[in-house]
Amino acid sequence: MQAIYLTKNGKAKIAFEKHEIEIKEPGKGEIAIESEAFGLNFADVLARLGLYKECPPLPTIIGYETVGKVLKVGEQVKNIAVGDRVVAFTRFGGYSQYVITKAVAAVKISNNFHVGKALALATQYTTAYYAAYIAANVREGEKVLIHAAAGGVGTALVQLCKLKNCKIYGTAGSDEKMEYIKKQGVDVAINYRERDFSTQITEKLDVVFDSIGGSTFKKGYRLLGSGGRIVPYGAATQLEANNFFSKLKFAFSFGIYHPIGFIMQSKAMIGVNMLRIADDKPEVLQYCMQNLVNLADEGKINPKVGKMYSADELNEAHTALENRETIGKIGIKW
Ligand SMILES: NC(=O)c1ccc[n+]([C@@H]2O[C@H](COP(=O)([O-])OP(=O)(O)OC[C@H]3O[C@@H](n4cnc5c(N)ncnc54)[C@H](OP(=O)(O)O)[C@@H]3O)[C@@H](O)[C@H]2O)c1
Repeated sequence: MQAIYLTKNGKAKIAFEKHEIEIKEPGKGEIAIESEAFGLNFADVLARLGLYKECPPLPTIIGYETVGKVLKVGEQVKNIAVGDRVVAFTRFGGYSQYVITKAVAAVKISNNFHVGKALALATQYTTAYYAAYIAANVREGEKVLIHAAAGGVGTALVQLCKLKNCKIYGTAGSDEKMEYIKKQGVDVAINYRERDFSTQITEKLDVVFDSIGGSTFKKGYRLLGSGGRIVPYGAATQLEANNFFSKLKFAFSFGIYHPIGFIMQSKAMIGVNMLRIADDKPEVLQYCMQNLVNLADEGKINPKVGKMYSADELNEAHTALENRETIGKIGIKW
């Protein structure tokens, strides 16, 4: 069986190499999966460019999720059996035909569950579920702002906030994405390449989901009303800060905050990093994934799959994600 290794930082076409892998046995509490497909996430682009601190030293296998059949189970695994089809979160190691991960990071799915939709549930929907339903605890009818609303996590946030009948402001960067997010249920779609969202929104918000960072974060925080929560979970604009001074400028552009300000204005900032949740609270990750599989089975959410590529097209897939051309989830089929 093969895996795709990240061997160099830089452009997608020089970064990856496919190699045979050594087949190891799953340890206590682990399962081994023969993968049908793996998903791509924006953090993979950051890892490839050498901008992701958590990425293991190169050469390494990146990737946060896989869908496939369980080949082997380690000791003390109770929730999963050999032969089950699962969607699983992987803490790196996803770009492989043979994946070992914790059983608690896997959830069973039916044989007819669409492979791309299942991949979307693992990292992007789980991040959105945790951010919206646990961190921000979005309530019925609240007013929310979702940045990069046409992306993987963005689409998931829109669908999950729609289930709570929220009024949704969504931003994205093209006319095609405007049409898409309106169809998904965004009430006020703002193309932030043409308009400043902070002047387009004239009412106070309850929740802002921010994956952009910098001045976008600062403007979002200012839009919150009393009881408002801002959930930072990414900083995509760090791609534009490529030297020491622009990085420093980027860091300061978030704004400076003090707990007394949070008390006086009754506002909250709640950071989300799903790697930390996967490491320290894997049962919470599993809870989110299981609820999402149930919501999908009930037809209450419907992940959008932008495109499934072949393993030989990994470079194209990575480049499209980096160039902001993708909508919803993209993945690679073996
Ligand atoms: N904290 C966590 O645990 C966690 C977990 C998963 C994802 N994330 C973060 O969530 C965000 C979305 O992830 P995803 O995998 O779903 O990706 P995605 O949203 O499908 O793709 C990234 C999107 O970000 C937008 N964007 C804004 N500024 C950008 C810039 N300077 N460069 C490139 N893209 C930019 C683009 O949409 P427009 O064209 O509309 O601008 C782009 O399509 C990422 O920032 C990611 O790091 C965090």
